[in-house]
Amino acid sequence: MDTSLLVPDPAPAAPCRAVADAPPPAAARTPLYRRLADHYQEAIDAGTLAVGDRMPSVRDLMRQHQVSLSTALQSLRHMEQAGWLEARPRSGYFVRQPKRSVIRPVQEPSSLLALDPAQYVGIHEKVSQYIALRQKSAPPIDLSGMTCAPELYAVDTLRQAAMRALRERPELLTSAMPHNGNMAFRHAVARRALNAGMRISADEVVVTHGCIEALNLALRAVAGPGDTIAVESPTYFGLLQALENLGMRALEIPTSPHTGISVEALELAVRTYGNIKAVVVVPNLQNPLGCIMPEANKDALVALCDQLRLPLIEDDAYTELADGNVAPSSLKSRDRSGNVIYCASLNKVLAPGMRLGWMNGGRWHERVGMLKFAHTRANEEWTQVTAAGFIASPAYDRHLRRLREVLREQRERMAESIAAYFPEGSRMNVPKGGVGMWVELPQQISSQRLFELALGEGVGVSPGTIFSNSDRYGHFLRICCGHPFTRELDQALRKLGRIGQQLLDEPGR
Ligand SMILES: Cc1ncc(COP(=O)(O)O)c(C=O)c1O
Repeated sequence: MDTSLLVPDPAPAAPCRAVADAPPPAAARTPLYRRLADHYQEAIDAGTLAVGDRMPSVRDLMRQHQVSLSTALQSLRHMEQAGWLEARPRSGYFVRQPKRSVIRPVQEPSSLLALDPAQYVGIHEKVSQYIALRQKSAPPIDLSGMTCAPELYAVDTLRQAAMRALRERPELLTSAMPHNGNMAFRHAVARRALNAGMRISADEVVVTHGCIEALNLALRAVAGPGDTIAVESPTYFGLLQALENLGMRALEIPTSPHTGISVEALELAVRTYGNIKAVVVVPNLQNPLGCIMPEANKDALVALCDQLRLPLIEDDAYTELADGNVAPSSLKSRDRSGNVIYCASLNKVLAPGMRLGWMNGGRWHERVGMLKFAHTRANEEWTQVTAAGFIASPAYDRHLRRLREVLREQRERMAESIAAYFPEGSRMNVPKGGVGMWVELPQQISSQRLFELALGEGVGVSPGTIFSNSDRYGHFLRICCGHPFTRELDQALRKLGRIGQQLLDEPGR
């Protein structure tokens, strides 16, 4: 074995600053080969390195960045696997045209006018049919949900924590529970919120059955049957169901697939309709669009809602899955008046099976606590005790960093396949984090039919129709990228592309 492969080169005269400088503590935990790859990937993104450009040779990388041969090689291979480079025999590595760069981004909404508020819209029926069909077919490759594959969660750590909790405190199974949740758990989530810039104390946390219960409580705290709630369009179907369930009307506000809800359209809608009681927004990694609102838009939204005294319900199910080591900011971190009700979930990041969520009710905190008690009483305490220790430990951040990296790679590879297989004219955004991708098909393709035909071939996806009361997303698909990229998954995407093409070619469609 050539041991020189493992030995770093002597220090060069002038190392490249971006990679060799002392990194911030979080970045230091990313392996060196990844930081080197990211450095060049950013240069490709920015156009500094163009398609066809030759990458620095392995020797150059070693010299310029003061890295070992194995690190330089690992970086190049990583970029090759991610589809950014191609290796040419005896010539080195070259920047290649990523297949997905040929697919255009999803279009902006065509009109800035809000839809009419809808009271009974039958979303329950649409969603129930979708869920029933999915369950009946039980497709072997199911890309319809929004959670990661079970093996991507820290199952052994959680199992050990659960067993320890029950061994040490078996009475957790038999005694009454604290109303707003277990204090250690509330401390743990409040501390993480503090690090994310939110001023929430453990006393101001209410533990819920996932984010969906938090959203239900938030809505009931500020509005009642017959009231209108502004929502993004498209939006998470569970929110539309909740609104219908509560007898409230949804007013869909145009939402950019790139920058999120239109603050101008929201203001116009509030001034036009006058009876909007709250707005619900997913500012980071919106479901289904995957977009992250720019900081300035978040500032403007929080300020507008404050000025109008319009309760702002923040749904934060996905922020911890954003790429990189610095999470995008929350709306709650801007809240100075208690006008933001913050709803969070651990189901996407920690464990879908534990159904843990939590919320801060802002100035409606007392009312939220009362509604929680009236609605479902407290959550199971042993799940909270199990989660609390893990969340408060460095192992949790390690788990999150690993999960984000894995998701990023899966997403990139799925995006490549979608770009390669989907019919001409398809569009897609590849989000900077999370577990979903929003794909726009040519207008003539019914995503409902595609969904049904794909189920017949063992593949599950979500048709765009369930994300709105209108039919404007009838040619969109949401595809989950929370599963490891395998040959079978690649084949499943190929099937989706083929079915899409068949639908496009169908005579008399
Ligand atoms: C935007 C959004 N909010 C809320 C939820 C519900 O979260 P939970 O599973 O924690 O109830 C989901 C689930 O997919 C979601 O996508």
